[in-house]
Amino acid sequence: METTIAVPKKIMDWMIHIRRHLHQWPELAYQEEKTASFIEDKLKELGLKHRRIAGTGIITEMGAKGPIVALRADMDALPLHEATGLSFSSRVPGVMHACGHDGHVAMLLGAAALLQPKQKQLPGRVRLLFQPAEEKGAGAKAMIQEGALQGVGAIFGGHIDRHFKVGEIAVNEGLICAFTDRFDLHVRGKGGHAAWPHEAIDAVVVGSLLVMSLQTIVSREVNPAYPCVVTVGRFQGGVAHNVIAETAHLEGTIRSTHPEIRQRIISGIKRMAHGVAELHRAHIETKISQGYPPVINTSREAQWAREAAERVVGQKGVVKQQHPSLGGEDFAFYLKHVPGCFVRFGAAKKGLEGIPAHSPRFDFDEGVLPVGAAFLATIASLALKKIKDGDY
Ligand code: NI
Repeated sequence: METTIAVPKKIMDWMIHIRRHLHQWPELAYQEEKTASFIEDKLKELGLKHRRIAGTGIITEMGAKGPIVALRADMDALPLHEATGLSFSSRVPGVMHACGHDGHVAMLLGAAALLQPKQKQLPGRVRLLFQPAEEKGAGAKAMIQEGALQGVGAIFGGHIDRHFKVGEIAVNEGLICAFTDRFDLHVRGKGGHAAWPHEAIDAVVVGSLLVMSLQTIVSREVNPAYPCVVTVGRFQGGVAHNVIAETAHLEGTIRSTHPEIRQRIISGIKRMAHGVAELHRAHIETKISQGYPPVINTSREAQWAREAAERVVGQKGVVKQQHPSLGGEDFAFYLKHVPGCFVRFGAAKKGLEGIPAHSPRFDFDEGVLPVGAAFLATIASLALKKIKDGDY
């Protein structure tokens, strides 16, 4: 689909080059050294001064005196071995941009290129945040601690999303991404000989029962009107076929969209661990670690984002997420400090509709790059104008 705001071919080609270069050289959270110097080179090409922040993060500003609006892109890749067969596949074994963050960086640089010629006319300053460690390590938090949001009136960002077509931008107000919490359950039984179960307490059997019990928290204990998930992602126990396991370790994730439901799930897990341990004479230690908070878009900024999206993709292109995503997103940390809106850029690639993000075969339609760049440039100038005019 054509964007109503035309992105010059030169910028389009530049973004594709950036995206493909980053795709070939992916780096994990807080190791984005090459990525950061590549971004710095591109900012120099645009004549923009910048500084490093939060290790491998970069911050730069453009525009004139006035209010400040921030735009954010994340930079990190995932520990996956790429299997797309693309000509510009990852050259780093075991590391891959499988979430589209290579595209996010290209789009934010594209937005900078679009804004650059009209910097002087901007009703304020646009601060670009290139953030490390979104996938793990809460890079957003580190950026904020080092002052990334100082003076910022509103923040915007987005994520490439294969659930929507190129030329669609999904804008929602309120909660769009879940609470993410992690749990670790350490089962301690009593090891022994496989042939003398009566002398042992089998941690694998206890752990298995626990896995099955946990399935009933979502299905039987919480209000089905609220989306939530409990997934045991890892189960380790035992050392040999003829040895009864002394210990087992389960780890998993809790995704929820309401603070009360979140508490219910956490207390359900603790209660079940305790109960299963009691039932089988074992001991289970439960550890819950808080992950990313939910992304909650503020309504005024979501309205501005809708206006900006309309200017870019027309009324028809502006869509909504039908329900919150149970994925986590550390943009949430910014929204705890300043108002803002996180959108989804449609990027479904033909033939890859069934391949989710975080898959070794993930790819997206590069037609999303001009849409994202135009949206980011548009929302920045629109929000600056609204804030300056006090128009809200
Ligand atoms: Ni992502």
